Amino acid sequence: MNPKDTYRIPLAVPTFDKEMENAALNALHNERFVLGEDVYKFEEEFAKYVGAKYAVSTNSGTAALHLSLLALGIKSQEHVITTSFSFIATANAILHANATPVFSDINIKTYNIDPSKIRQSITKHTKVILPVHLYGYPCDMQQIMSIAKDAKVKVLEDACQAHGAEYNGLKVGTIGDVGCFSFYPSKNMTVCGDGGMIVTNNEEIARMVIKLRDCGRKTKYEHDIIGYTARLNTLNAAIGRIQLKRLNEWNEKRVRNALLYNKLLSDLDEIVLPLAPKKLVKPVYHLYVIRARNRDKLKEHLENNGIQCGVHYPLPIHLQPVYKKLFRFKGGEYPISELVSQTCLSLPMHPSLTKDDITYVCEKIHEFYEEAG
Ligand SMILES: Cc1ncc(COP(=O)(O)O)c(C=O)c1O
Repeated sequence: MNPKDTYRIPLAVPTFDKEMENAALNALHNERFVLGEDVYKFEEEFAKYVGAKYAVSTNSGTAALHLSLLALGIKSQEHVITTSFSFIATANAILHANATPVFSDINIKTYNIDPSKIRQSITKHTKVILPVHLYGYPCDMQQIMSIAKDAKVKVLEDACQAHGAEYNGLKVGTIGDVGCFSFYPSKNMTVCGDGGMIVTNNEEIARMVIKLRDCGRKTKYEHDIIGYTARLNTLNAAIGRIQLKRLNEWNEKRVRNALLYNKLLSDLDEIVLPLAPKKLVKPVYHLYVIRARNRDKLKEHLENNGIQCGVHYPLPIHLQPVYKKLFRFKGGEYPISELVSQTCLSLPMHPSLTKDDITYVCEKIHEFYEEAG
């Protein structure tokens, strides 16, 4: 069901318009369904947009992460240091690659992996650091790259929530050895279905992921590695090309919306607001996440007033039942991730939000805390 039908103000609203429909139909009528011309054009345009030498599309962000880890040469049981406070796919991709996720706690302000804690987790088994630019807010890449250099390990950026975000003048995803994006419908840009992209400046990695996503194919009938079927469909690439053209405009609107929320909510002691953009850190607000006193009751109040909210994420990955079972986590291992998961609340955030929508949401938040006394 379209959330527009049920909420006055939905959490996210993906755009699908006539231009995208025409591009999709054109691709279906005139190109190969798989690895058609639009796939290669989308990759070329995405690489140019982020400022990377290569971009290789996949059928999901999870596949992008999985294949990137394989291309980085990760071996069975080697360690990948990552955050527990992310969507589960970040850690799943590590397990798909037969490696071991080693979680590290987050910074209480950015909600991203805390570089000082990464250093403590490095051992001789560490092969890759996998930071996640959560909610579209760039990680402290200067520190992360410096730790990786000292430890001689690779960096794979999970930029699945951060299309177009910048750190120190560079688009996230292009700072480490490899970067991965997701085009799932709720993201800042979508292919109106599942899809992903791997970006890198390393030719060897690019060649390897091209092969891995296409059954390990060396030539049409010759396969020299065990690969996967992880290609992006042509019609999705055709839609992605149009979405990419709009991305900057949409991101600007997201930033404008976030700044308005910050302004209208700045007087409330009961909530903690997301960080504003800085000179060298340019977030794209995939999600606008506050930390709120009495989170669950506030969520209920907003939803009763037609405002859809989300919780990203109510459980840090290490406390997901499957991870608890696999790694015997009990709770208390990553206290900041656990604290944030209990208090975070995602308010509606998308480019088509109006000033009136945001004003209404903020009024309802004020009303809640006034009534609570
Ligand atoms: C941080 C993060 N990593 C990985 C993924 C996985 O992407 P996908 O859903 O396209 O497989 C997502 C998206 O859902 C995500 O938000």
